Amino acid sequence: MPEANHFSCITSIAGTGSYVPEKILTNQELEKLVDTSDEWITSRTGIKERRIAADDEATSDLASRAAEKAMEQSGVTAEELDLIIVATVSPDMFFPATACFVQRKIQAVNAVCFDISAACSGFLYALQIARHFVNTGSRTTALIIGAEKLSSMVNWEDRNTCVLFGDGAGAAIVRRDDDARNTSRRILSTVMYSDGNQTDILVVPGGGSACPITPENASEKLNTVRMEGREVYKYAVNAMRDAAEKALEAAGLGPDDVDMVIPHQANRRIIEAITDRLGIPSERVFVNLDKYGNTSAAAIAIALDEANRSGAIKKGDILLLVAFGAGLTWAATVIEW
Ligand code: ACO
Repeated sequence: MPEANHFSCITSIAGTGSYVPEKILTNQELEKLVDTSDEWITSRTGIKERRIAADDEATSDLASRAAEKAMEQSGVTAEELDLIIVATVSPDMFFPATACFVQRKIQAVNAVCFDISAACSGFLYALQIARHFVNTGSRTTALIIGAEKLSSMVNWEDRNTCVLFGDGAGAAIVRRDDDARNTSRRILSTVMYSDGNQTDILVVPGGGSACPITPENASEKLNTVRMEGREVYKYAVNAMRDAAEKALEAAGLGPDDVDMVIPHQANRRIIEAITDRLGIPSERVFVNLDKYGNTSAAAIAIALDEANRSGAIKKGDILLLVAFGAGLTWAATVIEW
């Protein structure tokens, strides 16, 4: 259901941060690993390279680096944080939550910490959860993070998937701001959806309780990403466009009001199909997937931080964030920056 900003106080984004690992894996390097080509990857997806975390670098390490930058930009100390939500499908471990590892690494001793699993929609889901906590007064200062080490979950022999994904993290500080006159970066509306009937088209089938990895099935690499790309593609275009329209409607706005779309960074063709149908020109669409590939829950968070720090978005701009991922899940959020 659409949710406009009917809360009595205003939730604002006080700062953003992101971190990507140093190691770059180019399309040319992938040509040596699987039967693919730079031409195929670039023309089908727009991706040129992606970042790969070091062996001793876990999702919580990427998340903590992004968090520190968001805290620094917003002037918020670790002690002030009273909520940490990490959106990830590549947690450090099944438990404890990756958010608890982040808590330890940044010493946010006063925070309540948990993870959410909504794949590529995770950052927008986390933003909405934090918004509810902050608006009810239950928490005042939330750290939300989208972080992934997808390189640990892809089958490096499967060209259908291994060329698509990358590692990274993005973060934002969500704060309560009761004085609307001083507020910028206000969340105006959010819509969220899920379709559990489509669990099979994008899935990591093994490694959980439904299908534990055993010595017998280990060679089948069931604990890596499986995707029916064409089905996901078709669903993604329709679902994201619909969510974008509904979120704009809930905010009392239309596509012409949007200054910048910050979409999930999975595939340039998907982004173009959605924004073409909305009638939003490419100069008002932020794309960085050429550098990072699909970093799932981190993708929108990294893009938002890059748009923020590069000056691509400025105070007062209307932003449309729109995501789609496994579940299936999808969501859209409108922010007045
Ligand atoms: N290099 C060369 N050829 C390839 C590669 C590759 N890396 N991958 C697949 N191919 C081949 C296929 O085998 C197929 O060959 P065939 O026709 O002989 O069978 C051919 O290319 C076409 O394959 P398609 O799957 O039809 O290619 P398509 O144009 O659909 O592009 C893609 C594939 C990029 C995966 C696209 O479908 C897509 O982007 N889907 C959506 C992905 C997405 O948005 N995911 C979001 C969520 S991710 C998450 O939640 C974690």
